[in-house]
Amino acid sequence: MAERTAALADPGPVDVTSLGSRPPAAPPPLLDVRAVAVSFGGVRAVEEATLAVPEGAFASLIGPNGAGKTTLLHAVSGFCRPSGGEIRFAGERIDGHPPHAVAGRGIVRTFQRGRVFPRLTCLDNVRLGGKDHPGERFVANLARRGARRRREAELTAQARELLGDVGLEAKAGELAGTLSGGQRKLLEFARALMCEPRLVLLDEPMAGVNPTTGRHLMERIAALHERRGLTVLFVEHQLDVVMEMSDLVVVMAGGRVIRSGRPDEVRADRGVQDAYLGAWEATRPGRAGAAVDGGTEGRGPEGRSPERHGEESRQRQAGGEPGPVEPPRPGERDGR
Ligand SMILES: Nc1ncnc2c1ncn2[C@@H]1O[C@H](COP(=O)(O)OP(=O)(O)OP(=O)(O)O)[C@@H](O)[C@H]1O
Ligand SMILES: [Mg+2]
Repeated sequence: MAERTAALADPGPVDVTSLGSRPPAAPPPLLDVRAVAVSFGGVRAVEEATLAVPEGAFASLIGPNGAGKTTLLHAVSGFCRPSGGEIRFAGERIDGHPPHAVAGRGIVRTFQRGRVFPRLTCLDNVRLGGKDHPGERFVANLARRGARRRREAELTAQARELLGDVGLEAKAGELAGTLSGGQRKLLEFARALMCEPRLVLLDEPMAGVNPTTGRHLMERIAALHERRGLTVLFVEHQLDVVMEMSDLVVVMAGGRVIRSGRPDEVRADRGVQDAYLGAWEATRPGRAGAAVDGGTEGRGPEGRSPERHGEESRQRQAGGEPGPVEPPRPGERDGR
């Protein structure tokens, strides 16, 4: 992870002889969110949130329960329409575009509660994420059976490779419903990668998964990020993992982005300490007050553990998230 941080912080040597007197302009961020607001009736879930994620980043979005993190991911991925502000991806406006159009541009997401099709095999679950399924153009394909079979074979090979990448190759023929929570999240991630995205949004990839499996899952995701040059923005409450793995940490509280920067910068920020991190820092090994029996160990703001916020939120949000994301049906794909 250190290499990634260094790569983002230091663009390396620049040939100034070819530049004239002006320094080179920084490339625009891959994801550029400016003053975005989202309301649900009278609830202002996100207010003037601004953040930028450079291409190639492994970025995290953190903050207390109800801070607006999931809602911001919904807005970026087209699952809800912002009431204000702009969202740009690779320089183009995408705010208000429907999810399939956003996916077609190269942004995919996973959900706070992992979503798989339990009665399909793992291989079919992953295949469903692929682009240009021959079955979508049934009539045209009747006349081109050879091309259809080739495309089917390509999709199967791509899905098998991704199952291997996430360590589920042995499960290819098993029903997804037999997988553990952690394996389902890996499967969902593999499916998301089938459409060869540039940006992956992950909502609490470690939630509901035991800590060892959760860390394994994050390591797999980080390895794929390195190998495929994927840009990743993940929401997570496991702050040890966030601080260890992220190049860039974005902190939300009360619907706003209150800070973004390298993990060390964010940890040193007084406002972030007060809003979220203070109690977590106090419980770190070697800190005064750490592991006080019956004391504040693991307690976040409002007396809750940052790590437990996600679980509480899931209970609170039951029915609040948009419905399951079924892969688009034939004819609905819009380029996915
Ligand atoms: N569909 C909805 N209808 C009404 N209010 C909503 C809806 N979804 C979210 N909210 C509210 O918007 C605010 C932000 O919620 P959001 O789920 O984005 O927070 P979060 O940062 O993801 O929290 P957590 O870490 O607990 O998952 C909360 O006050 C929440 O109750
Ligand atoms: Mg959430």
